[in-house]
This record gives sequence, structure tokens and C-alpha cells, in this order.
Amino acid sequence: MRIEEKEFLLPNGEKVIIRSAGPEDAEQIKDLRETTSAETHFMARDPEDGQMNVERVRAVMDATAKSEREFMVTAFVGDQVVGDLGIMLIRPHVKYLHRAYLGMSIRQKYTGMGLGSFMMQVALEQAKKNGFEQVELGVYADNARARHLYEKNGFKEYGVNPRAFKLKDGTYIDEIIMVHFFE
Ligand SMILES: CC(C)(COP(=O)(O)OP(=O)(O)OC[C@H]1O[C@@H](n2cnc3c(N)ncnc32)[C@H](O)[C@@H]1OP(=O)(O)O)[C@@H](O)C(=O)NCCC(=O)NCCS
Repeated sequence: MRIEEKEFLLPNGEKVIIRSAGPEDAEQIKDLRETTSAETHFMARDPEDGQMNVERVRAVMDATAKSEREFMVTAFVGDQVVGDLGIMLIRPHVKYLHRAYLGMSIRQKYTGMGLGSFMMQVALEQAKKNGFEQVELGVYADNARARHLYEKNGFKEYGVNPRAFKLKDGTYIDEIIMVHFFE
């Protein structure tokens, strides 16, 4: 599905359009993911994993746009995608249909200005409407900004996956597993 289009104003007055990216935005989404993977170590991908396959990105975006419950909350400044959030089923099996998984990233230039909080609120409201009972995510233990944002929006830590990530310099980082329940 696609969310209803919204506007968010950055503190400098710049306008951000919030809508759901679709298959037509695949190149832009690929660029966002490759850029944000290089800007911090907080994404699952690393630049060494190589370029993403744009046809695969397009296929996932197409399936998401056609899904009844999965969706993206994508932030555009002009034609550029500056941030993206996905709400996805964990598995399409009956016993999992109450659970959604959330992933998000914003270009560094657009972080720290309230955009992530706005996208999160839009996503939680829509996820609830789409019948999910809980939204789950995993975050690097050293990602203080993301953890703050998630806690502020009602996510609670329920587990730690020790040494989930190993950086190129050999450092291990735990993954914090969080959940937001809709009551
Ligand atoms: C994490 C991310 C989505 C947050 O979005 P954002 O637009 O930067 O967040 P916001 O500006 O809405 O809010 C950030 C909050 O964290 C706070 N914050 C900023 N730096 C912080 C830090 N080092 N420690 C704790 N809190 C911090 C801000 O004060 C703000 O809190 P407030 O609303 O209570 O004042 C975004 O920074 C991002 O995409 N980062 C790179 C990729 C990433 O980390 N993705 C998440 C993977 S799980």
C-alpha cells in the first residue's frame, strides 16, 4: 500500500514531501541505501558488500506498493530521496501476521532535525491501522541517537544479540532488539 502524502518542514524552512516510494523510485532508493551504508556503520550493509541490484530493489518496491499491509514512508526533497522507513511483515505465515519489522535511514545531512521522529509517527499510526499488533526492530548498541528516538516512541528493549555485528577493524557490536506494542 501507499500512505497518504504529507509535508514536513525542516527548521530552515525547506519542504520535505513524505509519501511511499514505489518501483518508479528504485534508482533513488538504491542511491539512498548505498549512501547511508557508507555514512555510518549503523546499517546492515557495508560498502564492501558491493552495489545493490536495482532490478531487485524495484521488485521489492513493487511488491510493497501492492501489499495490503506493508508500506514505506519515504522522504523526498525535490527529486532526491533523503530518508526511508519500511514496515514489513516478518514472515507471511499465519502465526506471524501480528508482527511488523521496521527499518529506517536518513542521509546524514538531514538527520537531527526532527524528520526521523515525524516519519516514525506516520509509520506507527499506519501500522496500527493496517492491523499490526506490534512493531519490532534491531539497532546497533552504540547507535545512541536511534535508541533515543525509538524509546521516545514507545519501543522497549527486550533482548540483546551479543556480537551481532563485526566491523572491519575487528570490533564487535551487540544488537539491541526492541518492540513497540499497540494496546
Ligand atoms: C537514527 C535516525 C533515523 C534518527 O532520525 P533523525 O531525523 O536524525 O532523528 P530526530 O532528529 O527526529 O530525533 C533525534 C533525537 O535523538 C536525540 N539525539 C541526537 N543525538 C543523540 C545522541 N548522540 N544520543 C542520544 N540522543 C541523541 C535528539 O536530541 C532527538 O531527540 P529529541 O526529539 O528528544 O530532542 C537518523 O539519524 C539516521 O537515519 N541515522 C543514520 C542511519 C541509522 O542510524 N539508522 C537507524 C538504524 S537502526
